Amino acid sequence: MVLPLTSKTSPEGHLTIGGCDTVSLAKKYGTPLFVIDEEHVRKQCRRYKKAFRDLDERCEIIYAGKAFLSVAFLKVIMEEGLSLDVMSGGELFVGMKAGFPAGKMYFHGNNKTPEELELALGVDLGRFVVDSKIELERLDRMAGAVGKKAHILIRLTPGIHATTHDYIKTGTEDTKFGFSIASGAALDITGKATEKANIELMGYHAHIGSQILSLDAYEETVEVLTDFIKQVEDELGCDVKELDVGGGLGIKYKSTDEPSGIEDFAGVIVGGIKRQAERHGIKMPKIMTEPGRSIVGSAGVTLYTIGTIKTVSESRTYVSVDGGMSDNLRPMLYGATYETLIANKADKGATKTVSVAGKHCESGDILVEDIKIPEPETGDILVTPATGAYGYVMANNYNRQPRPAVIMVKDGSARVILRRETYEDLLRLEEY
Ligand SMILES: Cc1ncc(COP(=O)(O)O)c(C=O)c1O
Repeated sequence: MVLPLTSKTSPEGHLTIGGCDTVSLAKKYGTPLFVIDEEHVRKQCRRYKKAFRDLDERCEIIYAGKAFLSVAFLKVIMEEGLSLDVMSGGELFVGMKAGFPAGKMYFHGNNKTPEELELALGVDLGRFVVDSKIELERLDRMAGAVGKKAHILIRLTPGIHATTHDYIKTGTEDTKFGFSIASGAALDITGKATEKANIELMGYHAHIGSQILSLDAYEETVEVLTDFIKQVEDELGCDVKELDVGGGLGIKYKSTDEPSGIEDFAGVIVGGIKRQAERHGIKMPKIMTEPGRSIVGSAGVTLYTIGTIKTVSESRTYVSVDGGMSDNLRPMLYGATYETLIANKADKGATKTVSVAGKHCESGDILVEDIKIPEPETGDILVTPATGAYGYVMANNYNRQPRPAVIMVKDGSARVILRRETYEDLLRLEEY
């Protein structure tokens, strides 16, 4: 689905989500506005849990907070029984504010600072996903200094080329993330980790990339990871208890996208690891996965108000909206594409080909290129679906644009979970 699960068209031809009229939401809360369908998020959490736990009840689903997080949103994730992946002190802090048990948080990142490690050690964070030798040594020293043992997973580079944009591929050999299996770096760091007095090696982690539509790359990853576990057990005598296969399952940004289902993904991961464990005669590790985009991406839409409409040639009409690269960087970062519709003309046919431009001072600030929509007019509410993930979290104040509000809708009611920034907010760090 491109639109959130509960989306409907009202009798007056307006798009509704979670029983709320999006045109009324835009009027009440202003635009640009992120709208998140709570029921959709909860359903995705449940699908993940069921799909994985039906195959192995020990499986743990870890929500990747980088996709979208706020205190209220994380409470929903927590209620659904998911764990949390954080990759900075800031994300960890939001997790703590939401009341996430520290033991259910996983700390990622290729350059965790000493201050971030101190914060995490202080709350007895569940797992540190170690990404470099310097981090391993630092963590061992810092844990020892406070009389604790840090439980770690080692991030592996499986050398897999997932079919996705280069900027969101992370499993290839030439990446800043993890330790290469092929070069021997992963085996070497494993040996070092087992010698550290204040480190408890629990297992491994790998994340091969994001917005991955086909499961082939995961099949390959599972093989590479389990072959490596066999090698570690044989050569170093380690007992590998946990295997975290990362996130990355893609979503439908356009009607023509064909992402794999969560259930098929679970089958490839859990089924593949089981088969390999049997083949190699190794113990079945506890399996974790870290979805972000596939939990919240399709649950969210962005509402904009159309301002100017400018036809510059026979084939090009720009429809400008009151946001752009300050609330959605993905088109500029990865050439991401979207569909779009007009919330107050949801029952009208798409007759006009336009490009949707942001309001920022960059000619590349184009949200959607060459898309057919109903005849646009100033004041219409334009919707870009599938913006729940990696939208708000990358929002910025370019051109001193205040960041949008985020509201969550359910059963006909809406609540603000992140309020809109004001001009005063923009000045809060100024010294003058
Ligand atoms: C380590 C790690 N885990 C999980 C994720 C979540 O990926 P996705 O949102 O594509 O599921 C990411 C995304 O970059 C990541 O880097």
